Amino acid sequence: STLSPFTFVLFGATGDLAKRKLLPAFFNLYHNGKLPPSFAVIGVARRKLDDESFRAALEEAVRAHARYQVHDINWRDFARHFYYCSVDVTQLADFERLYQRVRELEESGIGTGNRMFYLAMAPERFGETAHRLQAAGFTQTKGWKRLIIEKPFGEDYGSAQRLNEEVTQVFREEEIFRIDHYLGKEMVQNIEVIRFANSLFEPLWNNRCIANVQITSSETVGVEERAAYYDKAGALRDMFQNHMLQMVTMIAMEPPSRLMTEAIRDEKVKVLQSLRPYGRAEVRQHIVRGQYGEGEIQGKAVPAYRDEPNVAPGSRTETFIAARLYIDNFRWAGVPFYVRTGKRMAAKATEIVIQFRDMPRHLYFNQDGTLGPNLLVIRVQPQEGMYLQFNVKRPGTEGGVIPVAMEFSHSGSESPEAYERLLHDALRGDSTFFTRWDEVALAWKFVDPIAEAFANDPDLPLATYRAGSWGPEAAEALTAADGFRWWPIG
Ligand code: BG6
Repeated sequence: STLSPFTFVLFGATGDLAKRKLLPAFFNLYHNGKLPPSFAVIGVARRKLDDESFRAALEEAVRAHARYQVHDINWRDFARHFYYCSVDVTQLADFERLYQRVRELEESGIGTGNRMFYLAMAPERFGETAHRLQAAGFTQTKGWKRLIIEKPFGEDYGSAQRLNEEVTQVFREEEIFRIDHYLGKEMVQNIEVIRFANSLFEPLWNNRCIANVQITSSETVGVEERAAYYDKAGALRDMFQNHMLQMVTMIAMEPPSRLMTEAIRDEKVKVLQSLRPYGRAEVRQHIVRGQYGEGEIQGKAVPAYRDEPNVAPGSRTETFIAARLYIDNFRWAGVPFYVRTGKRMAAKATEIVIQFRDMPRHLYFNQDGTLGPNLLVIRVQPQEGMYLQFNVKRPGTEGGVIPVAMEFSHSGSESPEAYERLLHDALRGDSTFFTRWDEVALAWKFVDPIAEAFANDPDLPLATYRAGSWGPEAAEALTAADGFRWWPIG
């Protein structure tokens, strides 16, 4: 391992994210020899726990969610790196107590004063927590200091900007790691490699050869226990502003001049700057929103969104959004990017379909008299891989063709989990796959007028779709209006 020793202060250590993703990520990294011999993780939350009971919770989380088995390693050697400190984040005195704990650990040999702070907690508390870390002395250190912040980063441009101001009073931009966990997914990272390491694709990657791009991230889960947050956020803020737009930037960006963090992020920013901005009229024309009604998921009846616990009666929050986006630059002029995401859809899947232009003239036909286009499909999840669809002669016919797929897939559990990779990147100080402030700002500036239309435009419909379907009819109409269709995924 090339990592230097560190102390890692994990706020929200008893929460869902810590249990499902973060603590198991530490285990996976440890299992693979990616952590240094000397490090400490201090779990922080309001609840009163001692180190031993935190380690028991750690073991439970690892058993339930890690990629490897607990007995693959010496558990006690691993668990002794974990500590717990109860903190009320509104109390400076609690931060001072926490600081003593960190100092003791550092003096006991974890040494160099490298300090990572991870805020997996209520977003309203991000700013003040950063300030209290400073007031308690944490940010005075001989080693490095870094801050990882979970989403949501603000709820619109104004609040994101205020939050950013608060945080940047304590940490420099290079020390701030804004998580978008989609950027940690193997196949999302692979987009750049597929594009920029294959002479086969790059010459075709433009409006002369590509007819449209389709990016779908569908989920089968509903709102679950998160209505307090989700009913205010909706799919637009929860998924579209961050994960979906990030995937758009990865598909659309220009090749960076060199493989360096800021060079790459500069190119992503240019895509966001080129997005055609939408006001009310364009939202009506290019965006479809929906909310799930009752239906069935895997044969099981599920309630409508409005009947879920803690959802406001008559809520008009969207649980589905489909959009037609345009990137107004030379490469992409005229190419629609269709983006859709929703809860309670027919399958859990994230896929990117690149549809190439039609042949100028058809000489060969499928059995149904059409000729399908070439597709390049990047499968982000649950299967990781990609395939290229093309037409070949249908054996024994004259002029008959069939579409076939050439495909590769990553098997099993080889690839690290998104959080595992991102934690490791942040500990190495590599912020390539985190969002820079200007990306967040531009994404909000694009989304804010859409949110405004959602909230206030009386002429903007909110379609209901059946739980377990692919979303509302109107989403089909979005592609059909341009003579296209959503390709089946999952
Ligand atoms: C999160 C959203 O960012 O991403 C959730 O807040 C969503 O609502 C989740 O369920 C989806 O992530 P994944 O990795 O399961 O596709």
